Amino acid sequence: MKTIDSVLSEKTMFPPSGTFVEQAHLDQEGLRSLREEASADPDGFWLKQAQQLVWRTPPTQALDQSQHPFVRWFADGQLNITESCLDRHLTTHRRNKAALIWEGEPGDQRVITYFELHREVCRAAAALLRLGIKTGDRVIIYMPMVPELVFAVLACARIGATHSVIFGGFSAEAIRDRINDAGAIAVLTADGGYRRGKVVPLKHNVDEALKHCPGIRHVVVVSRTGQDITMHPGRDHFWNDLVKAESGHCEPAIVSAEHPLFILYTSGTTGKPKGVVHSTGGYATQVAFSTKYVFDLRDEDTYFCTADVGWVTGHSYIVYGPLIHGASVVMYEGAPDAPHKGRFWEIIDKWGVTIFYTAPTAIRAFMRWGDQFPRAYRLNTLRLLGTVGEPINPAAWIWYHEQIGRGRCPIVDTWWQTETGGMMVSPLPGATVAKPGSCTQPLPGIAVEVVHKDGTRCGPNEGGYLVVTRPWPGQLRTVWGDPDRYSKTYFGDIKVGGRPVYFTGDRARFDEDGYLWVMGRVDDVLNVAGHRIGTAEVESALVSHPHVAEAAVVGRPDELKGQAIVAFVTLRSGHSQTPETAALLKDQVVREIGAIARPDDIRFTDALPKTRSGKIMRRLLREIATTGKAVGDVTTLEDIAVLQRLSASDSDEE
Ligand code: PRX
Repeated sequence: MKTIDSVLSEKTMFPPSGTFVEQAHLDQEGLRSLREEASADPDGFWLKQAQQLVWRTPPTQALDQSQHPFVRWFADGQLNITESCLDRHLTTHRRNKAALIWEGEPGDQRVITYFELHREVCRAAAALLRLGIKTGDRVIIYMPMVPELVFAVLACARIGATHSVIFGGFSAEAIRDRINDAGAIAVLTADGGYRRGKVVPLKHNVDEALKHCPGIRHVVVVSRTGQDITMHPGRDHFWNDLVKAESGHCEPAIVSAEHPLFILYTSGTTGKPKGVVHSTGGYATQVAFSTKYVFDLRDEDTYFCTADVGWVTGHSYIVYGPLIHGASVVMYEGAPDAPHKGRFWEIIDKWGVTIFYTAPTAIRAFMRWGDQFPRAYRLNTLRLLGTVGEPINPAAWIWYHEQIGRGRCPIVDTWWQTETGGMMVSPLPGATVAKPGSCTQPLPGIAVEVVHKDGTRCGPNEGGYLVVTRPWPGQLRTVWGDPDRYSKTYFGDIKVGGRPVYFTGDRARFDEDGYLWVMGRVDDVLNVAGHRIGTAEVESALVSHPHVAEAAVVGRPDELKGQAIVAFVTLRSGHSQTPETAALLKDQVVREIGAIARPDDIRFTDALPKTRSGKIMRRLLREIATTGKAVGDVTTLEDIAVLQRLSASDSDEE
């Protein structure tokens, strides 16, 4: 960790404009008093924030950490989260306000009001109940970005079934593993989805997966593309057939605040994906709180988040957070360059979007495509921009500010994780003076520190481990089916004041003004185009190919994607190191995990650099992947000649 240096050096500061500050929920004074309130009485602060939800039994307790690292929040409270997202709005002026403004990739559109959304969710929920799905069951959702995806998520929540959304880009093998790990009994899917004009065969992938999922009793299929699919009698049902029989009334299942709302699988340092479990009341409190203050959300806003509901950003900031506040949410099905590279800007102008939330990797792609695309649009309704998923380089921040925000809109660079449920570190747009590249300061009520391995605090500008020292409401509660993995992964490494604290896996530094700069992961998890990919997952996909003897996967910095995936592979004897084999192996990874994990380079080698105890020296591989040679300490290397051969060998770059 000693070698961590600051790599970002943009010095310009950006205060919010006077006009933004005037209308903001929080100005500097407001933020200061909220921080004081939160630090003086964190439990009281969060109990107050919890009042943003509709409770059937309001909680009287906030944090219970008697079983630390297993925590509970608002444990004596009872609710159904869909009452906060839907029912409460029906008696207000929002009843016929647009809840979802949906754009299909081919150009079709649907506008669904709160009244309609409530009805659709209730019909779907009643249909699930009729199938025999009940509170506590797990339901997999594998859908394109269509309104039924949101109906499905909320229908599960309505009946207290724990949903697990799988991103539509994952393969049949990935679906199979997640279904079996979750012990799910139903899958909600679609015939297919559109992506850059092509049709993704979602139902076909589900059929493949289900050959090895004995627990699945029902598959419900939304018709999106109309392509030919096989329906298995007794098991498979069309969504429309099921819901048309339902009236639109479905009593919500009232659950404890600690009831598991969803499981979301994410990558870790082993080959097995982790089922991150989120609660209901604590999670909803954190997303309600952060949506309101970080997006400075108001009733007049039209909010567009470009994430997929298959990722946590979509759960928290397309579905739950904005709907709790009765916002109008723009949801877009397709790719940003389909059918043209101005699609997002067209959508913003078409619907008068005021708040836009995207990822740095997308911003870098927009920069590369050229300023002419955003310039062709007015973008005059925008008032706030956000980013999430990876550090944003200052050049991309400035471009975003100038070309999209037209110098007028504050940018909220929000740091958080699948495990945190909601935002943790971010500017408050009416109060924080932004520094491009820094996610600035922890939100009120959130205790984040940068420490050495021994738990002592790092000084200003000293890089170290990013930890969260006090439990927060949106904290993951466990890893599904594996509480040990939860304790070991997140609380096994670092103690502060003798007590295990949550380790984020990120390295970071606070600067002299107390601004946080996140510098990437310390573990073997890559961040490729804003998506987390475990090197071990890619390695196990590679070694499952019969030609492969051994594989080691590392990241290489990539201008567009943040990190690119480089795989060092040794083949079994008799197989040749050809571009064809490399292509085969890339396909193997796509088949096992999905296209998001396709290696950028495959480099063949006769042997991997290892320590005498047999551990692969990834640091050396990272150096070779990045600079072409290894310059660091190689004294523990078992066979020095391996390195020379690796440095000399060319990649298969296609
Ligand atoms: O490394 C951090 C990076 O993304 C990781 C979390 O990834 P995931 O669970 O997939 O969630 C992404 C969406 C919340 C973090 O550990 N990360 C996320 N946001 C930022 C970031 N790094 C720097 N700045 C951010 N704003």
